[in-house]
Amino acid sequence: MRFKLNRLALIPAVAVFLAGCDDKIIYRDRPLYEEVPSAALSFVGYSNSETQLTVCGNCHVEKQKGWAATGHASAWETLQGNSEAETSCEGCHTVGQYGNVVNAVAGYEATGEERYYDVQCEACHGPGVDPNVALSHVDNPLDSNVPLAPLNVGAGATLTGGCGECHNGEHYGFVDEWAQSRHGDASARKSYRDRDGCSACHGGEGALVAWGVDTEYLEKGGTDNQIGITCAVCHDPHNGTNEHQLRWPVDNRDVDTNLCMKCHQRRAVPDLDRPSRGPHSPQGPLLLGQDVGWIPPNFAYDTIYAEGGAIRGTHGSEANQELCATCHLNSYEVTDPATGDHVFNVTGHLFKPIPCVDAEGVPTGDDDCAMTTSARSFASCTTSGCHGSEDAALSALSVAKTRIVNLVAQLDALLDQVDPAAFNNNDGILTVAEGANFNAGLGDISSSAVHNPFLMEALLTGSIKAVLDTYGPFPAPVAPDLLVPVLWQNSRGGN
Ligand code: HEC
Ligand code: HEC
Ligand code: HEC
Ligand code: HEC
Ligand code: HEC
Ligand code: HEC
Ligand code: HEC
Ligand code: HEC
Repeated sequence: MRFKLNRLALIPAVAVFLAGCDDKIIYRDRPLYEEVPSAALSFVGYSNSETQLTVCGNCHVEKQKGWAATGHASAWETLQGNSEAETSCEGCHTVGQYGNVVNAVAGYEATGEERYYDVQCEACHGPGVDPNVALSHVDNPLDSNVPLAPLNVGAGATLTGGCGECHNGEHYGFVDEWAQSRHGDASARKSYRDRDGCSACHGGEGALVAWGVDTEYLEKGGTDNQIGITCAVCHDPHNGTNEHQLRWPVDNRDVDTNLCMKCHQRRAVPDLDRPSRGPHSPQGPLLLGQDVGWIPPNFAYDTIYAEGGAIRGTHGSEANQELCATCHLNSYEVTDPATGDHVFNVTGHLFKPIPCVDAEGVPTGDDDCAMTTSARSFASCTTSGCHGSEDAALSALSVAKTRIVNLVAQLDALLDQVDPAAFNNNDGILTVAEGANFNAGLGDISSSAVHNPFLMEALLTGSIKAVLDTYGPFPAPVAPDLLVPVLWQNSRGGN
């Protein structure tokens, strides 16, 4: 079938109206594609292989532009540049049955034609021509015949279709790792995924809505709104601006535009209406050392902080450009220590900064191994160039943890001696006891010692002083040397 565009060229005004979501749709008065070989199973591929203009991209001009700047547009070239390239490699580096609803050999693998090079639109969206309807989307775009891409990693419960069909296996196991993470765990707090007030962070669909991404995808409007934090929530396949096709940057120091912090910032300061509520995903503000915790009266550590500035450790400072991603998305190669041979590509998509590892050194999804450099990999601390050795990083972490655990224990012991009337939950006033209790909750999160040991220490020592001043003296006093801020003072020195 060869398509003539004359009919469409007559209705540009209508088309712009129809285009609703994408006002950059342009029509051209020439055939969009060569006849599709029947073996290709309706994939149309490139309109012009030389310029890499996809058939879809003739009309979806902005999407074409964004996509062309992603790695997907050079997938074929990358493969050809590799000395190990062979036929079996080609399916994932071209358009065909991988990544969409089609399950029979199609597109490139069926025809070997150049028009199917690279991971084009149809790799995810499926074929542009529908053999079952007289006029398909590319011939006659209607909202009833759109080839929609899945937001899910795999269609249904399996990991086939979607990004998962290519980004898996030994080559690069993104899906295999992601599926073991809390972002990908199919059973993780599922009930919050479509609950009002929770879905904005706990659900993939809710997150897109909360971020103002009003987009069309396969599962949209379905009855089972249970999609987790899938690949296409963090990655936007048409975003050629941010590195790695990220929907939001990771090197941005603003909790509302940093990819991770957009969600990891639910409650970092006490809730005046319900002061008994502890912190909820405070990692973003804590890392940046801003707008986090209860500020004790006469908070002495840093007048800048009291005036709305920041107290940050090295991990949240300019020295760490990629912030959360430096530690939580560390990709590296595992090699056999005896032979130096390559064993595994860690993609970092377990999102674990110090993952437990198996005997070969390959990260596992477990959390409960020992806090040692043999049971875990501390590679993120060293490949980042920040720490000289894994042992040095562990040792720094242990010092900070011990100090903070100790301060929390002291503060808790004091709060136990405070008159329970000071924790009057519903009076709309935050008492010193309630504020200090919130800070103890922050210190209780074991990762606070790495996310911002200095601010954590300052908040805890400040809280202890405030509780002593307000409710003391107590029969069991605090060891005075604890109140000297060791971590914070050390930080003033070198970094
Ligand atoms: C001839 C121009 C044209 C071509 C070619 C075309 N589209 Fe469209 N597409 C449109 C128009 C116009 C709409 C809006 C339809 C509506 O809302 O009724 C649309 C809508 C869509 C939508 C839904 C989102 C939205 O804005 O409503 C998706 C997804 C989509 N197209 C994907 C594709 C893909 C993938 C291809 C290639 C296989 C493709 N389109 C080829 C013109 C085109
Ligand atoms: C199961 C699908 C799949 C197959 C089969 C596949 N690749 Fe890939 N390849 C990918 C994906 C996905 C990426 C992107 C990974 C990334 O960006 O980290 C990739 C990236 C690459 C890269 C660029 C990254 C790098 O490591 O330099 C090269 C080169 C490459 N592949 C070569 C090959 C060769 C050679 C073969 C066959 C021996 C092959 N691929 C087979 C999916 C596949
Ligand atoms: C602004 C984003 C955001 C909103 C809104 C949100 N959460 Fe969360 N929540 C998170 C993040 C991120 C985590 C994971 C990080 C963590 O455990 O600290 C999390 C973790 C949790 C946990 C596990 C805490 C733990 O300590 O293991 C529970 C339970 C939870 N959320 C319940 C809810 C409920 C119920 C709602 C709705 C009333 C909700 N969340 C709304 C971001 C949010
Ligand atoms: C790697 C997979 C992938 C590739 C490649 C891809 N898309 Fe998409 N596309 C998606 C996903 C997932 C969505 C839904 C989420 C979103 O909009 O980011 C989507 C959404 C869309 C939409 C709907 C946007 C809206 O405003 O409602 C259009 C139109 C679209 N894609 C067109 C294209 C075109 C044209 C190309 C090629 C130039 C392309 N896509 C390449 C996966 C892909
Ligand atoms: C919670 C957010 C998040 C989710 C979910 C996510 N990613 Fe990523 N991904 C990232 C970030 C951030 C980076 C960049 C890492 C960096 O800066 O080093 C990245 C990088 C990548 C890269 C580029 C790696 C390279 O070597 O260039 C690929 C490929 C990728 N992700 C694929 C996937 C796939 C496939 C999925 C789903 C199975 C997925 N991602 C899910 C956040 C995410
Ligand atoms: C048909 C197979 C295929 C599908 C489907 C696919 N990818 Fe890829 N992807 C690749 C290959 C191959 C590369 C390597 C390209 C290169 O390096 O030249 C790649 C590279 C990437 C990269 C790194 C390059 C860059 O632009 O930064 C990211 C991120 C990525 N893919 C994300 C995704 C996401 C998210 C999805 C699903 C929405 C997806 N991919 C679906 C095959 C695929
Ligand atoms: C769309 C919101 C969202 C985004 C974006 C997001 N997260 Fe999450 N993250 C969550 C939620 C919700 C959970 C908890 C899921 C659960 O337990 O049900 C979580 C869990 C985690 C966990 C596991 C916590 C644990 O208790 O084991 C880590 C680590 C994490 N996220 C890091 C990151 C990093 C790093 C980024 C940025 C690359 C990021 N997240 C981006 C919402 C998000
Ligand atoms: C310097 C490295 C580093 C940076 C930067 C970092 N983290 Fe972490 N994070 C860790 C380590 C190490 C742990 C595990 C601590 C433990 O298990 O004791 C952790 C634990 C977590 C957890 C598990 C739940 C918890 O809080 O205990 C979440 C969620 C998390 N980080 C999210 C983030 C987010 C979001 C960012 C960016 C705002 C971030 N992290 C920045 C190293 C880092």
